[in-house]
Amino acid sequence: MKKINLGSKYKASQISLGCMRIGNKTKSEAKELIEAALSLGINFFDNADIYCSGLSEEYFGEAVKGVERESIIIQSKCGIRKGFYDFSKEHIISSVEGSLKRIGTDYLDILCLHRPDTLFEGEEVAEAFDELHGRGLVREFGVSNFNPQQIELLKKYVDYPIICNQLEFGLFHSGMVDCGICSNMKNDFSPSNDGHMLEYSRLNNITIQAWGPMRSPFGFFPDNEALKKENAFLEDFAKNFGVTKEALATAWIMRHPAKIQVLLGTTNPERLKAIAKADEIELSRSDWYKIYTETGHVLP
Ligand SMILES: NC(=O)c1ccc[n+]([C@@H]2O[C@H](COP(=O)([O-])OP(=O)(O)OC[C@H]3O[C@@H](n4cnc5c(N)ncnc54)[C@H](OP(=O)(O)O)[C@@H]3O)[C@@H](O)[C@H]2O)c1
Repeated sequence: MKKINLGSKYKASQISLGCMRIGNKTKSEAKELIEAALSLGINFFDNADIYCSGLSEEYFGEAVKGVERESIIIQSKCGIRKGFYDFSKEHIISSVEGSLKRIGTDYLDILCLHRPDTLFEGEEVAEAFDELHGRGLVREFGVSNFNPQQIELLKKYVDYPIICNQLEFGLFHSGMVDCGICSNMKNDFSPSNDGHMLEYSRLNNITIQAWGPMRSPFGFFPDNEALKKENAFLEDFAKNFGVTKEALATAWIMRHPAKIQVLLGTTNPERLKAIAKADEIELSRSDWYKIYTETGHVLP
């Protein structure tokens, strides 16, 4: 399984498992999924305090009980509450304490702030990070759904490097690359909705973690009636590589030199194994552009 640098300390599998939905499964189903991931060489797991009201962290923790702690990278997120966002010192700290308890571990490798809280006070976040790091509860920090200016603002207060930013990204939610390809054009693809996060991340060694890789504006893209033509193309083109269309769409994300990490959200071990074959294929530059244009994107 291909590894990417995550900050200066971690080598994480580029294909990783998002645990958002595992609390909807039974404990044994969740364990089977995590075991499948580990057997594929996936060493990175994303979670959040709010996923399935904490059950996702709990089931994940149970599933990795016998696994050597240092062999896996555990990330969780905080800052979303019912009806509001909360980056207060008190909430950040109590959220991490809750995550650690549910997972049954002494530390998070990475803590991400889940969604920008416009009411955040930089000094408070800095104090929370200092305390969490000082107590050995969190090793590294990241963000999620932030734009570059929000990261710069956070960096004004926080001394730790921001090593990752989780953003929705995939073949059918590709604004991050569209705006660069259509730079300065007058069409639907040229406006940046993220403040040019892709380029900013590459300049600042921030790993983009693509959430929702199977999503589209019409729901999950595979076999979606609204994307019949696109699915037919992907299915056919994927045959050249001996993989499924889902794996091809994943490989398309991984091919970008930004070394984007993919957070797969499937809870189905068989789907996970099939998608993980993305790791074994190499898309050429022209393959990448063909997939891009045949799925509804334009080159100026
Ligand atoms: N930072 C954020 O704001 C944010 C937001 C959302 C998610 N996330 C993170 O990103 C991870 C992935 O997000 P996501 O769950 O939306 O990712 P995804 O991989 O795009 O979607 C997974 C979902 O698609 C379904 N699906 C339907 N057909 C599928 C097919 N043919 N192949 C694969 N999956 C298919 C899966 O069902 P089955 O389970 O039945 O396969 C599952 O419910 C989450 O677990 C979470 O860790 C972060």
